[in-house]
Amino acid sequence: MIRSFELERDRGVSRFGDAATLEELEDAQVATMGRKAQLSTLQKALGSLSPEDRKRVGRVANDVRATLQAALADRREQLERQAEDALLEEDRLDLSLPGRAPRVGAFHPLSIIEREAVEVFTSLGFRVVEGPEVEDDWHNFQALNIPPDHPARTMKDSLYVDVPGHPELLLRTETSAVQVRTMLAQSPPVFVVAPGRVYRRETSDPTHLPVFHQIEGLAVDEGITFADLKGTLEAFVKAMFGERRRIRLGPAFFPFVEPGCEVGVSCFRCDGAGCRVCGTGWIELLGAGMVHPSVLENCGYDAERLTGFAFGLGIERVAMLRYEIPDMRMLVDGDVRLVQQFRGVA
Ligand code: FA5
Repeated sequence: MIRSFELERDRGVSRFGDAATLEELEDAQVATMGRKAQLSTLQKALGSLSPEDRKRVGRVANDVRATLQAALADRREQLERQAEDALLEEDRLDLSLPGRAPRVGAFHPLSIIEREAVEVFTSLGFRVVEGPEVEDDWHNFQALNIPPDHPARTMKDSLYVDVPGHPELLLRTETSAVQVRTMLAQSPPVFVVAPGRVYRRETSDPTHLPVFHQIEGLAVDEGITFADLKGTLEAFVKAMFGERRRIRLGPAFFPFVEPGCEVGVSCFRCDGAGCRVCGTGWIELLGAGMVHPSVLENCGYDAERLTGFAFGLGIERVAMLRYEIPDMRMLVDGDVRLVQQFRGVA
């Protein structure tokens, strides 16, 4: 009987050792130590032995159980560790594999220029304001000294917005309407710039788009002169283009300024000689002038005491000059290769 117990012990230990998974180990446990196992049958048979034999064989039986329990626990621990290792191996990251580089975006050159220009003006003491792109006739024209029958209305073909009950709404033709909104909203002195999108019914060509961007500037206070305007614009052009380019001031008519001027910069391509890009050798950058007294009055400002200057700068033109872009339409035709060249800029 002792031999039978020892035989069951050896069988059990080798079954446990053979179990390759925790499930197999559980089966081996049932087969070795379960109610229907040979060991249980032997255990039950202990009862039929004489007291001395039962004592002797019983001790062996206890040792056999203890050995089996220990072998089972060892194997379970081994298999659990193996399962854990397999999971870790499955989840392992191979850090030596080349990574997939994320696509890095870039700011559009127009955004870069707008930010930079706004930074130049804010460093000169101007504050940033904004106005709506859908304007009404009064803010876009009348308050800017352009009455309904004024010939200046035909200079820029406007795009009207069809909103029932609001017949006078249009897409703003210039950012100058923000001058009006700013003066109506605050008392002088005023030093603001207003960047934004404007719309005109125009055909695109290398230097024109029907939708483009401007930065409006407005300074109103006592004693502001044309010299302040010129100084501000010179500081801006120097900051944006360096000393290399020449600027040119010529007389120009805008109903909301008196006197008015146009500021051009020598063309990056022909340096003033005249070419396909510029025509005349100069690229017109902005319109400017001294705020017309009627505009000040329309906004409730005292035109006897106050003077001011205003300017309207084309952002696309600045971008073309800065980055030597030969055709303005390239800025909007959606070719991602253009924008990708500006990765890391700004
Ligand atoms: C105006 O829009 C005036 N509001 C500017 C102004 C403001 C004058 C304040 C006086 C006082 P103009 O139409 O010239 O002016 O446009 C101003 C600038 O916008 C131009 O110098 C040019 O740089 C740019 N621009 C004009 N038309 C286009 C266009 N179709 N596409 C791209 N840029 C344009």
